Amino acid sequence: MMVIWKIPLFTPDFTEEDVQSAMAPIRDGWLTMGERSLNFEKTFAEQLGVRHAFAVSSGTAAIHLALACAGVAPGDEVLVPSLTFVACANTIVSLGAKPVFVDCAGENDWTFSPRDFKKKITEKTRAIMVVHYAGFPCRMEEISPVAREHGLAVVEDCAHAIFSSRNGQKCGTFGDAAAFSFFSNKNMTTGEGGMVAVEQDSYADRLRKLRSHGMTTLTLDRHKGRAISYDVVEPGYNYRIDEIRSALGLSQLKRLPDNLQRRAEIYRCYNELLGDVDEIMIPFLDRKEDEVGYHIYPILLRDPAAREALIQNMKESGVQTSIHYPAIHRFSAYRDYAEQADCPLTEKISDGELTLPFYPQMTEDDVKLVCESLKKAFKAVGNG
Ligand SMILES: Cc1ncc(COP(=O)(O)O)c(C=O)c1O
Repeated sequence: MMVIWKIPLFTPDFTEEDVQSAMAPIRDGWLTMGERSLNFEKTFAEQLGVRHAFAVSSGTAAIHLALACAGVAPGDEVLVPSLTFVACANTIVSLGAKPVFVDCAGENDWTFSPRDFKKKITEKTRAIMVVHYAGFPCRMEEISPVAREHGLAVVEDCAHAIFSSRNGQKCGTFGDAAAFSFFSNKNMTTGEGGMVAVEQDSYADRLRKLRSHGMTTLTLDRHKGRAISYDVVEPGYNYRIDEIRSALGLSQLKRLPDNLQRRAEIYRCYNELLGDVDEIMIPFLDRKEDEVGYHIYPILLRDPAAREALIQNMKESGVQTSIHYPAIHRFSAYRDYAEQADCPLTEKISDGELTLPFYPQMTEDDVKLVCESLKKAFKAVGNG
């Protein structure tokens, strides 16, 4: 039976302007990458403060290209968190490299541990992939110098952290290449889609070609008469975005600042309403260096054994919850990595984490309803 949620985990925020924008390319009759995509990339790069941005078909494609440009190749090791979406490890494996899992920084800070990553560097380590979990920036002031000292490329997964910043510097500008996702549940969405951001021209040159089969020109170039043919300079992928999604992305990008402001209000509202709940811990509360583009609202249950019953009880109240994330090294496909993973904090967090509904259209009453349903669920579960 399909569940009708009173409060879903998230719901995309579309306006009439989004709808009109997405339809315009169909009316114009040009759908593959064209002027709208170039405009989307240019606007995104300007707002992020980087020289180059390339729109692609998904966040996963963005990570894959970022790693490829960073020179990750068969036999390399890449340091990556285990408390993240599996695409982070899958892309490493698909390049023939080996993911080496890094633990969380602390019980209160679930980002990439500067201490653990340092311990896990070997002569095979080629790159690190930091993930700015829930919108909270990794401790880049501790991580970047170590990466530099060991000559490691730094790839940032900014899927959760569009326009978050730490000590005034935006996520996506700390490393060699940054990947963004515009998947349906992200802070701005194109349905499926992503962006790779880089500063160096040499990375940009390679990205431009790798995204489109390794070809030296686009269909648009030939249509506009700027080229009559093409060469293929290395085997690449079809990771292109299209004009419909770029038009939607441009429209969503315009509203992002308002969206992020509303997310911050909802975050604070949750913190106030849940501050006195003894059964949970709210992470990241001591982060003062960050301006966070909040993406999800994660909490840690003090009793992980209660999680399944809580999820079920909240579901009966019409409130959807989720888990961010099952640790990657415990998935069947990664079972060979489990023994050497050595990520005890990740395992603890992964076992006890619960994600509450979070999206900009939520009202204060919606947040109250979620918190009440959580408290009610604790009582019900506690009373057996
Ligand atoms: C942290 C993280 N990395 C990577 C991805 C992959 O992005 P996509 O779904 O756009 O491929 C996602 C989300 O879906 C994500 O949350």
